[in-house]
Amino acid sequence: FRLIRNGSASRSRDIGRGYSSGAVPERKVAVLGAAGGIGQPLALLMKLNPLVSRLALYDIAGTPGVAADVSHINTRSEVAGYMGEEQLGQALEGSDVVIIPAGVPRKPGMTRDDLFNINAGIVKSLCTAIAKYCPNALVNMISNPVNSTVPIAAEVFKKAGTYDEKKLFGVTTLDVVRAKTFYAGKAKVPVGEVNIPVVGGHAGITILPLFSQATPKANLPDEDINALTKRTQDGGTEVVEAKAGKGSATLSMAYAGALFADACLKGLNGVPDVVECSFVQSNITELPFFASKVKLGKNGVEEVLGLGSLSDFEKRGLENLLPELKASIEKGIKFANQI
Ligand code: NAD
Ligand code: LMR
Repeated sequence: FRLIRNGSASRSRDIGRGYSSGAVPERKVAVLGAAGGIGQPLALLMKLNPLVSRLALYDIAGTPGVAADVSHINTRSEVAGYMGEEQLGQALEGSDVVIIPAGVPRKPGMTRDDLFNINAGIVKSLCTAIAKYCPNALVNMISNPVNSTVPIAAEVFKKAGTYDEKKLFGVTTLDVVRAKTFYAGKAKVPVGEVNIPVVGGHAGITILPLFSQATPKANLPDEDINALTKRTQDGGTEVVEAKAGKGSATLSMAYAGALFADACLKGLNGVPDVVECSFVQSNITELPFFASKVKLGKNGVEEVLGLGSLSDFEKRGLENLLPELKASIEKGIKFANQI
């Protein structure tokens, strides 16, 4: 067991805290799209994560610079950059977690579905390589439209004979991050104590924050709940418009992506009671994929948790989102199975 490069004995004890054996396993994380707006800060945050022992940064361009830069940070993981398709296999081999923020972002006036034509192909080819080089890795899908790219990934893995529904995640953590921030501001409660499940999918009305389950309780009036729900659903658009053509959320997304990857690593390492919301294969509604609270374990999804009790407003939101989410899922499945 080789713990940390550039580390100290006291730091190695810190990393081991919470692990019964005292030893933190070796874990390789690959970021695909690592030179992009999300990829770069995400690479930085994963370099800061002591659960990572190897960090592979892959992109079609620009990764040598990002990797050289990040690699100088004196934390545990060894960093390597990979550029171009011929190096994708090496980047992926041995990965425990693969995070995918590869693809184009929105500009003002676009929906996430408008990204489908470009990003569906990117996701399909990256997932084909994952099936070949690291079929057992947990896949954290960030590329939009998540409501379709996750079903695409599932179909690619099914075709390759490697699909394990416990290992495929659409990253919806940013919706939770936003819901927590907006709720804390309105309810005047400490943001660090806030918990709110966000269910459904990751686009517009398919994003359904369950403020009736928010803690600490604040008994906000209906008009505040309506406004918070709308702001959470439109959070991505708020950033796209503010960036005025320079892309979509990158920094908050990198934070959210790092949080979710950390939860996956903790689950793999056997830390108990790790629960995050994610868009996964699910049977809690009639749809094959749905975001809800998920318990993470040594094999990925340990349990897809139910929705809990919903307010009438949330019940209506759930009814309303199902047709759109269904269509996005079916679009992904159809794309993956054509040709
Ligand atoms: P970006 O354009 O800044 O970066 C994307 C990167 O992907 C680029 O570096 C590009 O070279 C790379 N890339 C393109 N094709 C590739 C391929 N075949 N293999 C590897 N890398 C490839 O975009 P961004 O702002 O980082 O956003 C990336 C994606 O994440 C977008 O689709 C965006 O909509 C999505 N996103 C999702 C969430 C979420 O909550 N799930 C949040 C924000 C953004
Ligand atoms: C977000 O929620 O910020 C992302 O899905 C990016 C976008 O296009 O809104």
